[in-house]
Amino acid sequence: MDYLNRQKLAELSQNERSHYEQAHPASKALHAGANHLLARVPMTWMNKWAGGFPLGFSEAHGALVTDLDGHELIDFALGDTGAMAGHSPTALFEAMSERIGTKGGVTTMLPNEDAEWVAKELTRRFGLAQWSFTLSATDANRWLLRLVRMVTQRPKILVFSYSYHGSVDETFVVVDEQGRPSSRPGNVAPAVDPTTTTRVVEFNDLAALERELSYGDVAAVLTEPALTNIGIVLPEPGFLEGVRALCDATGTLLILDETHTFSAGPGGATQRWNLRPDALTIGKSLGGGVPCGAYGLSQELADRVLAAVASGADLADIVDVGGVGGTLAGNALSLAAMRAVLGNVLTDEAFGPMEDLARTFAADVQASIDAFELPWSITQLGARCEYRFASPAPRNGGQSLKSADVELEDYLHLYCVNRGILLTPFHNMALMCPATTAEQVARHGVVFNEALRALFG
Ligand SMILES: Cc1ncc(COP(=O)(O)O)c(C=O)c1O
Repeated sequence: MDYLNRQKLAELSQNERSHYEQAHPASKALHAGANHLLARVPMTWMNKWAGGFPLGFSEAHGALVTDLDGHELIDFALGDTGAMAGHSPTALFEAMSERIGTKGGVTTMLPNEDAEWVAKELTRRFGLAQWSFTLSATDANRWLLRLVRMVTQRPKILVFSYSYHGSVDETFVVVDEQGRPSSRPGNVAPAVDPTTTTRVVEFNDLAALERELSYGDVAAVLTEPALTNIGIVLPEPGFLEGVRALCDATGTLLILDETHTFSAGPGGATQRWNLRPDALTIGKSLGGGVPCGAYGLSQELADRVLAAVASGADLADIVDVGGVGGTLAGNALSLAAMRAVLGNVLTDEAFGPMEDLARTFAADVQASIDAFELPWSITQLGARCEYRFASPAPRNGGQSLKSADVELEDYLHLYCVNRGILLTPFHNMALMCPATTAEQVARHGVVFNEALRALFG
């Protein structure tokens, strides 16, 4: 990045950091005093926020978060999609009060009518016929991978390089600089080398996919319809159709992970782009942040699962201790949350205005990129958008990784936080919720422009 004056960037960042520290004494003290928390935070990734310590928060409503020092922030991070419904929408509050309070019964080992309601609604939106519930998207992926290995009797899965599907062992594989599969840098002490469980190719590379599927040992391709965890990398025209065709030709199942791409519309990218996965996973936003997840199976795949299970208890135990399921999964609180969110908040009608706001957000960012003649790009996927320090936008995970710049990201994030705006700490994602307003989006446009003027003006 020879257009970037690193010295100036370092000076500006230092100013922003000092300002951040001065303006947030309560958050700083919270972090400093957390002597019994590993790395001083409830979850170690919370240290990813720029500024040396994360903001502590006291309240969050709609698209606004109030930090411990009383600053109100416009939240475009939205729990990295967990709060895509907005923070504590009324319908969720009412459903939770009823489930925990008036009706009672958070978890009982018994089903109730909410489960079928939610499953039917997921079928309406995503097309998959049969559903099962989890507590996270990670678990949805983890359990589904066992089921697809069981029905196909094939040992491996295939993922795209620098994809992310939660902390699922099999998915931490990338294509390295020499084009070889390797364990993802930073992969924490894997039990087995993940290249023995997984094949990996770059997104948008059908020739490589064809080569890797030709071995006939891949149970399923697991992918997001568009990568969202290494910036947003959109599928090129014909790519997803090609993936489907190659899966069909090789007897490989196709799993779509819609956990983030749900931002594309009420039925995610699956509905929007008319995709035909054999299985689908989703979590986070479904329950408005109340822990939940789900996986859906086509009728054919569901029949295969049940047939495989019926053929002998030695083969698979999906009722007790076979490694699929958990006691809190499918609990009544999660199901009530999903019913409230799908029925009243992230409705069919909610997505259009969210997408319009994301379009405006992206247009504002693009206008500033153009004004300062930067080789950057912004990509939108429904209600979500994200800028990368590369133009044209990267077409696969490896390219997108190279376009990251931690110093630049930290500066932009801190500049925004100091002016009342939260972006996702992982890269530069911004997400709209039903409560996001045009004024909030406009405010980001102004602040982003000022941040660039200070650095490049
Ligand atoms: C596409 C995708 N799948 C799965 C997950 C895992 O979600 P969770 O950490 O809530 O289990 C994530 C998390 O970011 C994700 O982005």
